[in-house]
Amino acid sequence: MKSLDDVVMRERVVFLRADFNVPLDENKKVADDTRIRATLPTIEKILNSGAYLLIASHLGRPKGKVKPEFSLRPVCDHLSSLLGREVTFVGDCVGDERQKALERAKPGDCFLLENVRFHEGETKNDPEFARALADGVDVYVNDAFAVSHRAHASVHGIVKYVKECAAGYQLQKELEYYHKALVDPKRPVVFIVGGAKVSTKIGVLENLTDRCDKMLIGGAMANTFLKAMGKSVGASMVEDDFLEGARSFLDKAEKAGLEVILPVDGRGVETGGNVVKEIKLEEITPNFEIYDIGSGTVEAFKRAIADAATIIWNGPVGMFEKEDFAMGTFEVARIVAGSRGLKVAGGGDTVSALRKSGTYDRFDYVSTGGGAFLELLEGKTLAGVAALDECGK
Ligand code: 3PG
Repeated sequence: MKSLDDVVMRERVVFLRADFNVPLDENKKVADDTRIRATLPTIEKILNSGAYLLIASHLGRPKGKVKPEFSLRPVCDHLSSLLGREVTFVGDCVGDERQKALERAKPGDCFLLENVRFHEGETKNDPEFARALADGVDVYVNDAFAVSHRAHASVHGIVKYVKECAAGYQLQKELEYYHKALVDPKRPVVFIVGGAKVSTKIGVLENLTDRCDKMLIGGAMANTFLKAMGKSVGASMVEDDFLEGARSFLDKAEKAGLEVILPVDGRGVETGGNVVKEIKLEEITPNFEIYDIGSGTVEAFKRAIADAATIIWNGPVGMFEKEDFAMGTFEVARIVAGSRGLKVAGGGDTVSALRKSGTYDRFDYVSTGGGAFLELLEGKTLAGVAALDECGK
C-alpha cells in the first residue's frame, strides 16, 4: 500500500475519499469536526503538492436520493474556514459540473463534491458509478477510515479505474495503532468492553480471546454473562437467547487462559423507582435494574489495569448519558488515562464518554471509526484497505 509521500501529485487530479459524516446542529452547522480535522494533514499535503483536489464523502444515509438535509454544503464552509483557503462546492459528485470545475482549476485548487450517497450506485458498488467517479482522476487517496469497512463505489469499486492509489495519513495512523495495540502489542494486553449486547460484540470477543490477557466486561452485556454463570441480575436487561453463546465464550476463554473480569456490583434502581442505589450482586433483589457498574467493580478493574502495557477500550460500562449512571464509565476512563500502558479507544459512545469525562486527550489514540474499528477488532480486513492493496494490479 502506497503512502501519500510515494506519489507525484503536481498538476494531477487527485480524488480524496474522506469521511465527513459529521453531526450537524439545528442551524446546519458542524457540531463535531473531529473527523474533518483528522483529515487536514492529508488535504494540506495534497494541496501543497500543487494537485487539483476533488474531495468526496458521504453524509448520513440518504439511500440513493438527493435529500437536501444530507447535503455536504455546510461541511464545505467549515472545511474552508479550517484550511484558511477557498473550497469550492460542486453540486454533484460526478458529471458535467465537476468536469467544468476541473477545466477552470489551477494547481492547488480544492473542491468538495456533493454527497456520494445521493447516487444509489455508491452503496451498491456499481461499476458504472465507480467509473464515473474515477473519470479524469490520476490518483485516488483513501483517508476515510471510518467508512473503509464498506465495499462502496468510492471506497472500493473506484480503484479498478485509477492507475495509482495511496492511503492518506489518517488511514495510515489508524492502521498503525491497530498494529501496535493488537497485531504486535506489548503485553499484558487488557481489553475493556461494554455496551448493551453481547450478540453485537461476540465476533470481537472471540477474535481477542488469544490476543489479550485480561478482558474486563461492563455495560448491559455483562448481565448476560453473569446470568449465564448462574448469578442473579434482578430485572436488568439480559439477552436471554444468547445465554448459551455467552457460556460457550466463557468456556473458550478459560481454556485459552484469558482472565475475564465481570462486575461484582452495580448501580441502578428498583423497577419504576427513582432512588439510585449501589448493590452487591449477591444482595440483588428480583426487581432491581442495573445501569452502571458499582465501586467494587471499579476497584477490580483498576487492579486489572494496573500492570497493563496495552489497553484497548470499546463500549461504555454503564449508561453514562444519564448523570446517575456515569460514575463507572468516567472512573474507568480516568483510571485508563492515568495508566502507563499504550491506550487506544474507539467507537462512537466510547469517544463521547472520553470527551465528557475530560480524558480524551490523555489517550494515545482515539479511533475516528465506529463500525470500521469494530471490524478491525473482529480481525476482518477492511474492504477499502484491501482495495488499496489491489490498486494498479
Ligand atoms: C460512520 O459514521 O460510522 C461511518 O461514516 C460509516 O457510516 P455508515 O454506517 O452509514 O456506513
